[in-house]
Amino acid sequence: MKNDEYPPSEDTFFIANNIENEKGEYALDIGSGSGYLTQLLSDNFLFVVGTDINCNVLQHQTSYKTNNLICCNGSDALKIKFDFIICNLPYLATDEIMDIATDGGAEGFEIPKKIFDSAISNLATNGKFVFVTSSLSNYQKLIEYAEKLGLKTRIVAKKKLFFEELILIDAVW
Ligand SMILES: C[S@@+](CC[C@H](N)C(=O)[O-])C[C@H]1O[C@@H](n2cnc3c(N)ncnc32)[C@H](O)[C@@H]1O
Repeated sequence: MKNDEYPPSEDTFFIANNIENEKGEYALDIGSGSGYLTQLLSDNFLFVVGTDINCNVLQHQTSYKTNNLICCNGSDALKIKFDFIICNLPYLATDEIMDIATDGGAEGFEIPKKIFDSAISNLATNGKFVFVTSSLSNYQKLIEYAEKLGLKTRIVAKKKLFFEELILIDAVW
């Protein structure tokens, strides 16, 4: 299995451009990877945590170092309630998980579902969960699942790339 660091990419900058005005107290970046988005959150939130299932990547962060990094699935290791949670999901629809940075499993739903199931218990009342998905996954199924968990979802931005369309969704509890 490939488990290299995912460098800041089109989807990273897409989410970054859409969250730069968000401010508050407690923020969580799930799947923090390089730490690019975690560092961005640190400018506007008082307490920021990054989690990633890839411990190696967290241990060897170089360019975008932040504090409070936890290696776990989703937010499983945390008890804190966050006002704001972001996740640049591993969303590609794949038969197997060959690259944990990008592969979402069946319909691009399997891994995002695991992340949602975990994140939901760390979202404060009226908190917001912002995630990036893509036309390369069954994103409608993911939206329906978020609604089933009790979140009110809204597609807030789309960006066409030459081989896919990125979709940014905010989900409020
Ligand atoms: C598309 S990359 C995004 C990295 C970084 N946040 C960015 O935007 O550039 C997805 C990240 O999610 C992590 N990841 C995959 N499955 C996860 C899970 N179940 N729980 C937490 N992190 C996960 C990967 O290791 C990877 O670092």
